[in-house]
Amino acid sequence: MAAAALPAFLFQCVRRLEVGAGCAARLAEAAQPWRPQGAAARALLVTDAFLQRSGLTAPAIASLEAAGWQVEVFDAVTPDPAEAVVLAAAERARGVDLVVGFGGGSSLDTAKVAAVLGRPGQAPTLAQLYGVESLSVQRLPLIQVPTTAGTGSEVTRIAIVTTGAHTKAGIVNRALLADHVLLDAALTLGLPPAVTAATGIDAMVHAIEAYTSALRKNPLSDLLAREALRLLGGHLARVVAQGDDLAAREQMLIGAMLAGMAFENAPVAAVHALAYPLGGVYHLPHGLSNALVLPEVLRFNRPAAEPLYAELAEVLQLGGGSAAARCDALLAWAAGLSPRCGLPARLRDCGIAREALPELARQAMGQQRLLQNNPRPVGEADALAIYEAAW
Ligand SMILES: NC(=O)c1ccc[n+]([C@@H]2O[C@H](COP(=O)([O-])OP(=O)(O)OC[C@H]3O[C@@H](n4cnc5c(N)ncnc54)[C@H](O)[C@@H]3O)[C@@H](O)[C@H]2O)c1
Ligand SMILES: [Fe+2]
Repeated sequence: MAAAALPAFLFQCVRRLEVGAGCAARLAEAAQPWRPQGAAARALLVTDAFLQRSGLTAPAIASLEAAGWQVEVFDAVTPDPAEAVVLAAAERARGVDLVVGFGGGSSLDTAKVAAVLGRPGQAPTLAQLYGVESLSVQRLPLIQVPTTAGTGSEVTRIAIVTTGAHTKAGIVNRALLADHVLLDAALTLGLPPAVTAATGIDAMVHAIEAYTSALRKNPLSDLLAREALRLLGGHLARVVAQGDDLAAREQMLIGAMLAGMAFENAPVAAVHALAYPLGGVYHLPHGLSNALVLPEVLRFNRPAAEPLYAELAEVLQLGGGSAAARCDALLAWAAGLSPRCGLPARLRDCGIAREALPELARQAMGQQRLLQNNPRPVGEADALAIYEAAW
């Protein structure tokens, strides 16, 4: 009998993507299709205060201004942006011809939502946008310029918003896919080692979780995840130790983008589900939260994912042998990842009390959108056991 056909799958990604050191200074060329003829052209650049103050945004802004754009800057994005931040950006976007997201995932996500809410003739509320394709909406033209490598947000239709003191919610909507992405590795040269490490590990987790995603894993996401992990795994140590290595920074930026395309189509799972409460309650950076729970989630998933983990060990060139031996190698590699990068490796080293773990496990259960993708079902008792092992 012939083998069964693959489960049907959908693949989606951004339309245009440009890679090149210094390409942010050519932002106006990318923006040209949306420049209104004869009228004043207005662009809103969405970023954070540090990036604006540091001058990193200057070449991109100068490029637009030289081409006759009036550029307004919204630089009030904060890490893990709250609803008030996103709404303030959306207010500024009303009436502009183009929105540019410039920064880490926080700025890119804010720009996405601002481009939807700022579009004239459309009045969804932020609350209506939460969830997966909750509304059919359109947005203003959107160009994304990442400065971390990274969330991959530049190529996903996801935006994560902090909704309360301790909670985050996701908007997953095809309208959030950018029109054009500029990958300029020169922008990432000054990223401090700890941020480089945390954001790089976040990107690796995207690749690993996409490769083992239970529901929508497919041949294209596999291809992207494997190449992403090869590039990220091959260059992370170098960029943490030697941040000004432009070639290595570019490989990281491309790797993070490929991982973003992979998990856009084969979504992330329990590592992210267990990381979100750590970010929400303790305000740990997103990448660090992932790094803290990664080794124990991999160990938990092993009974369901060993053959795939063995394949990823090969991608990372961790040695050969049986599937079990290669899986052992991947688990050992994951356990050493944070220490090798100078990041804390245990929850107790990040100010988290042991008594807090049951509440974290309860909150992780709220991330069913992610948990359903995990190769092994995760209940609240499992989540608690994982947190305890990671403590
Ligand atoms: N949309 C998605 O698909 C997706 C995926 C994963 C995470 N996220 C979200 O992205 C956010 C995290 O994004 P992030 O990890 O990129 O960090 P971030 O945007 O929060 O930035 C972290 C810090 O790094 C600084 N920084 C950024 N680029 C720099 C540079 N080139 N040089 C020096 N400093 C720089 C910023 O100023 C900031 O202080 C979270 O809100 C997370 O939930 C979104
Ligand atoms: Fe992530």
